[in-house]
Amino acid sequence: MNVKVDPNALDPIETASIDEIRALQLSRMKFSIKHAYNNVLAYRKLCDEKGVHPSDLKTLDDLKLFPFTTKQYLRDAYPFNSFAVPMSEVVRVHASSGTTGQPTVVGYTQHDINVWSDVVARSIRAAGGRSTDKVHVSYGYGLFTGGLGAHYGAERLGCAVIPMSGGQTEKQVQLMRDFDPDIIMVTPSYMLNLIDEMERQGVDPQEMALRIGIFGAEPWTDEMRNNIENRLGIDAVDIYGLSEVMGPGVAMECVDTKDGPTIWEDHFYPEIIDPNTGEVLPDGEYGELVFTSLTKEALPVIRYRTRDLTRLLPGTARPMRRIDKITGRSDDMLIIRGVNVFPTQIEEQILKLPELAPHYEIVVAKQGNLDIVNVRVELTPEALNADHDIITKELQHHIKSVVGISTKIDIAPAGTLTRSEGKAKRVTDLR
Ligand code: DLL
Repeated sequence: MNVKVDPNALDPIETASIDEIRALQLSRMKFSIKHAYNNVLAYRKLCDEKGVHPSDLKTLDDLKLFPFTTKQYLRDAYPFNSFAVPMSEVVRVHASSGTTGQPTVVGYTQHDINVWSDVVARSIRAAGGRSTDKVHVSYGYGLFTGGLGAHYGAERLGCAVIPMSGGQTEKQVQLMRDFDPDIIMVTPSYMLNLIDEMERQGVDPQEMALRIGIFGAEPWTDEMRNNIENRLGIDAVDIYGLSEVMGPGVAMECVDTKDGPTIWEDHFYPEIIDPNTGEVLPDGEYGELVFTSLTKEALPVIRYRTRDLTRLLPGTARPMRRIDKITGRSDDMLIIRGVNVFPTQIEEQILKLPELAPHYEIVVAKQGNLDIVNVRVELTPEALNADHDIITKELQHHIKSVVGISTKIDIAPAGTLTRSEGKAKRVTDLR
């Protein structure tokens, strides 16, 4: 018989000891590596080339003996050769479009979908959500994992889900006014777009019933968190994930601490490596995040290189480790006259100036041999009459002294830059 447990109670693993978590991880990791090795030809080849066998994994530390897998590994297996179960056991497929080349295809068994729903339900609970809440989902539905991932998790928790998807901004706001959701799940950049639309419709965003925003799928800063929290009067928390590892809900920030997403380590084992040498770095050091799935059936990923740059931090609200806010992806790092720059570093400086809105674009071009960085940023509607020269100089000064690069600044009137309906595109690199 199925025993009905309180959907709002913590899962036992959320209060387990570190020793219990490590023991569970080791037994699951043995399963996962063996499963991939026995059932995915491409993975077995990688291991054989490196001369390692699943039986070499005796401790968690032995994971470092195994080869990395990458986006290219999944692309080479396009569409389904990375799957470890027959297609008859797959119940769902998602794909990430990528900016170039083949899309990356991922698959799920029914068990995988159940685990995914459970970790997203756990994530919504960690954000402060409860089974009695209404959840408005504005992540895109479709091949992208955001919409359906959020949807199944919210349903699993017992919430009433409003499956809005992205786009139709005017209608979104109308339905939010009518349905009064308690929680919204959306990219932070699209949230800004929705707030603008609320204001355009003459709605005071603070007056909405909304209590919690679960924001992710793109990098965003604490300055952006403050901006959104103040304008909406909500708690804004960070959800992290990637389709190759599962989708949203690989890690989730707890509302009580707001100190970076807790990795659900009973299903996803993290490592941080030096992106240049592949060496495993100790907790606390910055590098590239690598994940090993511990329970996935259809698409086990072993030492998958995410390209996301962050560090591992000790648990606070939960015993499991956290990641620091993602600075960016190594692919999005700009090298400007030898200095490494992430768009989030520019965002931090923009939002220190109260006259500026969190809408910005960065265009990089070459003039002769020099890299020229142009930051286009909007004024807030309240700063209509602000002195452009003063703001420009102030922003240039902050970026130069903190980030270390010279920039050209274009101050644009409120409402003129392109708005995002999903993941924001911050950078155009013309070099
Ligand atoms: O973006 C899954 C997701 C959907 C996460 C909804 C959260 C909410 P992909 O399209 O495969 O999957 O993109 C994954 O997005 O490697 C990061 O670079 C970035 N990303 C995701 N969440 C965050 C976050 C989904 N909270 C890629 N902060 C990842 C920073 C994030 N970057």
